[in-house]
Amino acid sequence: MSSVRVCALGDLDEDIPFVAQVDGVDIAVVLTQGSVYAIRNECSHADVALSDGEVDDCHLECWMHGSRFNLKTGEPDSLPATQAVDVYAVEIQADDVLVDVASRPSIFPTIPTGSEG
Ligand code: FES
Repeated sequence: MSSVRVCALGDLDEDIPFVAQVDGVDIAVVLTQGSVYAIRNECSHADVALSDGEVDDCHLECWMHGSRFNLKTGEPDSLPATQAVDVYAVEIQADDVLVDVASRPSIFPTIPTGSEG
């Protein structure tokens, strides 16, 4: 596993995608509902940044045509996108958020209460 530090926990605002690049891959890191997720920052329908969309109910909605991608699986739950977007393993170590773009997530780290901001 080759996790790379992408930001501090304090850099993440609830439901606001944080854009980073890991090993040449553009990713959006999302803190929502107490957990942290990492998803490829490119819609599977067209080459637009998902980070410009809105987070809702553990989904990231593409601003262009409205497909909603599950932050846990990358699967779209609405058209026009039909293919999943890659999602990546996230680790939290102390105040650091690490992402491994070579690994799919099996768990979704939750932030310790009181460590925000
Ligand atoms: S570009 Fe994302 S749904 Fe069309």
